[in-house]
Amino acid sequence: MKKLSIVSIFLMAVLCFSSCGKSFRDGAKEKGFNSGIALAAGSFLDPNVAKIVKENSYIVVSENSMKWQNLRPNKTFWNWNDVDQLIKFADENGMIVKWHTLFWHQQNSNFISSNWTREEALAAMDEHIETIMTRYKGKIKEYDVVNEMFEEDGSFRQNVWYKTIGPDYIEHALIKAREVDPDAKLYLNEYNNEEKGNRKADAMFNFVKDLKDRGVPIDGVGMQLHLDTSYNYSEEAVRRNIQRYAEIGIDISFSEVDIRVPMDSVEAHQALQTERYLSLYKLAAENSNVKSVITWGWTDKGSWIPATFPGKGSALMYDAQGKPKPVYNEVKKFLCK
Ligand code: G3I
Repeated sequence: MKKLSIVSIFLMAVLCFSSCGKSFRDGAKEKGFNSGIALAAGSFLDPNVAKIVKENSYIVVSENSMKWQNLRPNKTFWNWNDVDQLIKFADENGMIVKWHTLFWHQQNSNFISSNWTREEALAAMDEHIETIMTRYKGKIKEYDVVNEMFEEDGSFRQNVWYKTIGPDYIEHALIKAREVDPDAKLYLNEYNNEEKGNRKADAMFNFVKDLKDRGVPIDGVGMQLHLDTSYNYSEEAVRRNIQRYAEIGIDISFSEVDIRVPMDSVEAHQALQTERYLSLYKLAAENSNVKSVITWGWTDKGSWIPATFPGKGSALMYDAQGKPKPVYNEVKKFLCK
């Protein structure tokens, strides 16, 4: 009996730490950043999912539960349950939790109105920040304060907060957030903002630099990195972007990583997909201001990609059956070195 349990402990350890002596998340930690996963509400209550999240994550984020539409479907009802469960799970397993997102143009509640006056919109913003950040002071360590605030040409997106308040809605939110929880890390999150020389990326850098110069509180920039093997990618342009943020004291999160491929030629795109995944983890290891690499989900089964980009998919490192793909093993090998 005793012999059997020693054998099973050994086998479990081999399974857990296959190919090297540490887990994926410890490998990342030793390279100087947190690896993490965005989770669907309650998914981690399944022990099989929990096991995978524990192997891979020191940071977790909710895929949808923290957005207005789910958190606050009307003005007075707050649905805290999904977030509380995630925080409990993270606490029990040594992970930090990131909030995604306080303000965005999508998945808003119906009561948010473009007809609000500036004062009404500012009051709604303050109430949202105060309620969430007071409740989760010390529990949520970082926030995407505003998500997707730019258009592709670098102009501000005309979301409801821009329309009612004006461009200073972003700094207003950052100042308020710092006031309510001075220890929380405050991020602005975007997509297509990773390569220096891209119009949106340059506009965002100039904007963040100006905020820093004027003393507006901001700690980091999220680069979503929803990549596609059919488009160009320049590791050097991403590196130069990360480095210019380092020069102004701004942290980076690779905040929503997935790399989609055409479903009719998955195998042909595998090498490129692996090369790009490796590039991102390598950049995070090389640059001390990159604090996290978070994948947007873990298995292809729940991924948002096929519904949004018909014909594309296989974007994550676990397949639809929940098995790690070769790309996962390649990244893990790199993290183990
Ligand atoms: O929960 C309902 C379900 O009851 C209903 O039957 C079903 C029918 O459509 O919809 C379900 O809700 C969907 C929800 O995801 C949960 O799966 C919504 O329709 C769908 O719009 C929603 O999509 C989310 C999307 O944001 C909203 O724009 C994706 O899951 C989520 O991955 C995605 O995440 C965003 C980040 O927040 C910001 N960056 C881009 C990223 C990908 O779009």
